[in-house]
Amino acid sequence: MSKYFEERLKKELKDLQAKDLFREPVAFNKNFLNLATNDYFLLRHNRNLLDAADIIARQYGTGSGASPLLSGYLPCHQTLINTLLDWKYKKFGMLYNSGFMANQALIKNLPGKNDLILVDKFIHHSIAQALNRGSAKFKRYNHLDLCHLEELLSKNINKYDTVFVITESIFSMDGDYPDLNLLVELKKKYHFILILDEAHGTGVLGKFGAGLAEETGTSKEIDIIIGTFGKSLAGMGAYILTNSLPIIEYLTNKAGEYIYSTFLSPHQAGVALASIEIVKNAHKKRESLKQISRWFRNRLVQYVDVDTNYETPIIPLIVGSNESTLKLQKLFLNEAIVVGAVRPPTVPQGSSRIRFSLHSELSTEELDPIILIVKEWSKK
Ligand SMILES: Cc1ncc(COP(=O)(O)O)c(C=O)c1O
Repeated sequence: MSKYFEERLKKELKDLQAKDLFREPVAFNKNFLNLATNDYFLLRHNRNLLDAADIIARQYGTGSGASPLLSGYLPCHQTLINTLLDWKYKKFGMLYNSGFMANQALIKNLPGKNDLILVDKFIHHSIAQALNRGSAKFKRYNHLDLCHLEELLSKNINKYDTVFVITESIFSMDGDYPDLNLLVELKKKYHFILILDEAHGTGVLGKFGAGLAEETGTSKEIDIIIGTFGKSLAGMGAYILTNSLPIIEYLTNKAGEYIYSTFLSPHQAGVALASIEIVKNAHKKRESLKQISRWFRNRLVQYVDVDTNYETPIIPLIVGSNESTLKLQKLFLNEAIVVGAVRPPTVPQGSSRIRFSLHSELSTEELDPIILIVKEWSKK
């Protein structure tokens, strides 16, 4: 390999280091308190999930063995899709290996060059990146600001063939969510296609954990729902659900992420089937998660600026600079507590943050040391 090429990489990496933006994975120490997981009900070691995965893997094999249009699509995938459709009140669906892939497939392929996408400014990178790679034009509206969205809609709705609006349910780095009922009112007025990424709402919100759409009674009005098995469902893989068969058929024929990738493993389909069953009926766990999230937010707000209008388990503590965020993360690590230090480009410049991600099995005693660290830190 040319030395010149490696030197170029090294230089860019050094620049990242100088800006406190360098990233590397660190093997998680299981003796540490984990406040950086999206496994909101700690189901990854659940016996039913492990058994279901084992049974399905023995029946269908360790992998799907091919892409879905060859021979990778198996009866367990069909069962999983039907389970999801039933849970999320939709008629047609498809599976992907990850939420990142599902979003890339959807956003790059579905809107065409005469279409417009209006998207929340804080949308997840799996969508943000796809916006730049697709052929449709896009504009961002201010975070959760549906007045700004309406302004953009009224100015643009007649200039394009089709307008899409994309939002997350619980925002992955902010823990807040849009007023979905108001969004649906806008949809009735302006007739756009509404896409909802329920990655973090799934399991956490709704009577049966189907997400923000269920919680707000708006499922029927959401045109396309994306979700992942990688968070409260304790596995990996993802899905796109809709009432429009042409959308699914179109993606099946156009999305490289679907056509050219070995399909979701039967083992993961088994995990998802078992976890959906648990999560649907996890009313107590859902309530515990809400309670601990509310308690933690109310304690934190005594020392730092934290939004207490929400009861979701994603709780950002905005620090500002990258350097201070890393320093605060280190204070937690010193006490055997793992938290996310989220920096640009994941979040806007100047809004680097500690991201606390809670789960339903946490006690207030376990969280007390965190409050203490934040209290001491806030004095400086
Ligand atoms: C809102 C949102 N969408 C999509 C994804 C991607 O999902 P996956 O982890 O399954 O690739 C994530 C994961 O971080 C997310 O937060």
